Amino acid sequence: MNKKYLNKIINDDCKNHIPKLDNNSIDLFLSDIPYGINLDEWDVIHKNTNSALLGKSPAQNGKSGFKKRGKPINGWNQADKQITKEYQDWCYSWSSLVFPKMKEGSSVFVFGARRTLHRAIVAFENSGFLLRDVLAWKKPSAHHRAQRFSGILEKRGLHEEAKKWEGWRLGNLAPIYEPIAWFFKPYKHTITDNVLKNEVGAMNIEACKINGSSPTNILEFGFEKHEKKIHEAQKPEKLIEYLIKLTTIKNQIVLDPFMGSGTTAISAQNLNRQFIGFEIMEDYYKKSLERLSLNIDFQRPVKQKSLKQNQTLFEFTKNKQEKSSKQLLAT
Ligand SMILES: C[S@@+](CC[C@H](N)C(=O)[O-])C[C@H]1O[C@@H](n2cnc3c(N)ncnc32)[C@H](O)[C@@H]1O
Repeated sequence: MNKKYLNKIINDDCKNHIPKLDNNSIDLFLSDIPYGINLDEWDVIHKNTNSALLGKSPAQNGKSGFKKRGKPINGWNQADKQITKEYQDWCYSWSSLVFPKMKEGSSVFVFGARRTLHRAIVAFENSGFLLRDVLAWKKPSAHHRAQRFSGILEKRGLHEEAKKWEGWRLGNLAPIYEPIAWFFKPYKHTITDNVLKNEVGAMNIEACKINGSSPTNILEFGFEKHEKKIHEAQKPEKLIEYLIKLTTIKNQIVLDPFMGSGTTAISAQNLNRQFIGFEIMEDYYKKSLERLSLNIDFQRPVKQKSLKQNQTLFEFTKNKQEKSSKQLLAT
């Protein structure tokens, strides 16, 4: 069944398709999953109707950091406390489908938020995976949002208190890293037997040296000049390529059920790996196809005779992808 899905992104809920993939067939799971922190509509994984979560509050006016998300102004109530538990249940609803599809010994990289990743880790463990490490993706810079406490007190006319609290802030330290949980599917016998049988489970350190040195579990990557920002949660191609290079060989299959703008597909394509992808939102799906088409054009130009009159290479590859995606959804 994998053949129909290979090197395609399907515009649908991944849960409708993961069960159709072949068992023990996927070499790498690599996904920047929704973090469940209300970053955008697609990231609201709970039933909490608090309008401050993804709603609007007066605190947003003129404050770019809170433009989209609102601010929890109502404090923490029982429904708020359920949010991360609901996130865990949601992660389990599809990680349990992924488990039988992975090869024994294969790697699973799950991007997450510092506040909610622990729930995804429990969901993956409950599905059968074992946690190997939690890596840190160190970003080149971080948007810092801690408010000056003395400034708030000044606005309230509390001048004495403002002096006392000079230099203090409300909020977090600059969030310069994002965690990536690294699991593997348990294997029988020894890791050496497993690598020989399934061709997964070892790390290609030689291909991943950084300035000649062996890599650590802190990964420092930023966006390249050519990378256009398409998605709110887009990840750098070099970061994704690095994880693919570390754990797979050519032609192996990388599964990403939450493709967003298609970064995993592009990275797999750049490294001659195969990919299987899903994206529920039509807008991102279309943008990911556009990105992929341009990448295909860049690497493997389509023969001119395949093109209809006045059709560009870009239109040709995009139409081809959309057609096969529609065919798959109809079956
Ligand atoms: C964190 S973003 C991925 C961003 C991506 N790494 C990139 O570089 O563009 C997660 C994506 O998962 C999609 N998504 C959420 N639930 C989904 C589901 N059930 N099936 C497929 N896609 C889903 C969202 O629409 C969102 O675009």
